[in-house]
Amino acid sequence: MKIGIDKIGMYTPKQYVDLVELAKHRRVDPAKFTIGIGQDKMAVAPLSQDAISMAANAAAKILTAEDKTAIDLVILGTESGVDNSKAGALYVQKLLDLPNRARVLEIKEACYGATAGLQYAKLHILQNPTAKALVIGADIARYGLDTSGEVTQGAGAVALLVSAEPKILALDLATSYFSEEVPDFWRPLNQMIAEVDGKYSNEQYIRFFKETFADYQTKTKYGLNDYAALTFHLPYTKMGLKAMREILPQVDEAKQNELQQHYQQETLYGRQIGNIYTGSLYLALLSLLDNDAILQPGMRIGLYSYGSGAVGEFFSGVLQPEFKAQLDPMYYLDLLAKRQKLALDDYEAQFTAQLDPESENQALTDDDPFAKYYFAGIVDKKRVYKAK
Ligand code: CAA
Repeated sequence: MKIGIDKIGMYTPKQYVDLVELAKHRRVDPAKFTIGIGQDKMAVAPLSQDAISMAANAAAKILTAEDKTAIDLVILGTESGVDNSKAGALYVQKLLDLPNRARVLEIKEACYGATAGLQYAKLHILQNPTAKALVIGADIARYGLDTSGEVTQGAGAVALLVSAEPKILALDLATSYFSEEVPDFWRPLNQMIAEVDGKYSNEQYIRFFKETFADYQTKTKYGLNDYAALTFHLPYTKMGLKAMREILPQVDEAKQNELQQHYQQETLYGRQIGNIYTGSLYLALLSLLDNDAILQPGMRIGLYSYGSGAVGEFFSGVLQPEFKAQLDPMYYLDLLAKRQKLALDDYEAQFTAQLDPESENQALTDDDPFAKYYFAGIVDKKRVYKAK
């Protein structure tokens, strides 16, 4: 039995910051952001879009009534959780009207949470072949104004429907993971912005990639030539390339060029959205699938997930015969094109604005035409989510 990704959907909020404008404002050469880091725009979430509403919006794009009936596992991978106790996935379950006879939870391990969810879902479907699982990565990346991490912020969610006989990507059962406590990136409780040792985090990302890729090679005997493309967690679009360059010498020049060309396609969405933490690897996968005309059924795609702190995992899957029919690239072209550019003053004002969790009767509205769900505010200390 094949198990893997049957559908994939994405949501990112309607506003963005132009990074050339931001560079000039911060007195940085714009080429550092657009070439050195590899980012053109970064999505900014308004108060009415948090990890939960974004997760519901990403999933709403792909789920049919039939899918919803079959779902018995809902996992939200996030490091932008809104509650220290309750799983955000429970709100998502309710918003999407998913069955109550389901296991519903949230997983946290920095940007790795959705991958942990995907691997859990894979084993769940192995035991329950007629069921479907919904796995979502949703986050808001915040490093602070005028910090070196600022250009690598972003916001959004990617939803994966996992099933038997998947229509997009059948995942191999083999997978390689590596974990070690490293202080590269963390976010203390009650702090809205992350702490990061940027250069060190780059090094750890690459170290964990080399560990997991080599282990996977040993386990599966797949060489780099066996992959049509490698997809990466993309905190910024230059990062995956830095890691891939470490292994490119394993193949000839023609294959190196081929892998780098595919890599460009996987960065197209991330370049315009930024880091969405747990969803970033799957945003890269979606970007590749939507934009790479060369990909064909039967080709193998590698996936590298990295969550600071840190956990890395490398795994792979094979594109399925009908994968192109599951995609909707025009929708995302439209979503990205219709976003509004934020003036830098507004961006900085919004950055500091936070809802007071103790304050009652704060009502929020949302006019994003691509968002079916939004965070409507706090009433009696309870978060309220609404459908439009
Ligand atoms: N023109 C072209 N390129 C330029 C340039 C110019 N004028 N000026 C600088 N550059 C290049 C530099 O040469 C450098 O390129 P290389 O990395 O290829 O050497 C690149 O631009 C970045 O320059 P710096 O290293 O000087 O940038 P920085 O010190 O300001 O910070 C950063 C970069 C460390 C990524 C920082 O943005 C950061 O801390 N980001 C958050 C942490 C992060 O994303 N880490 C990634 C790994 S951890 C992870 O993946 C988990 C996660 O999601 C957080």
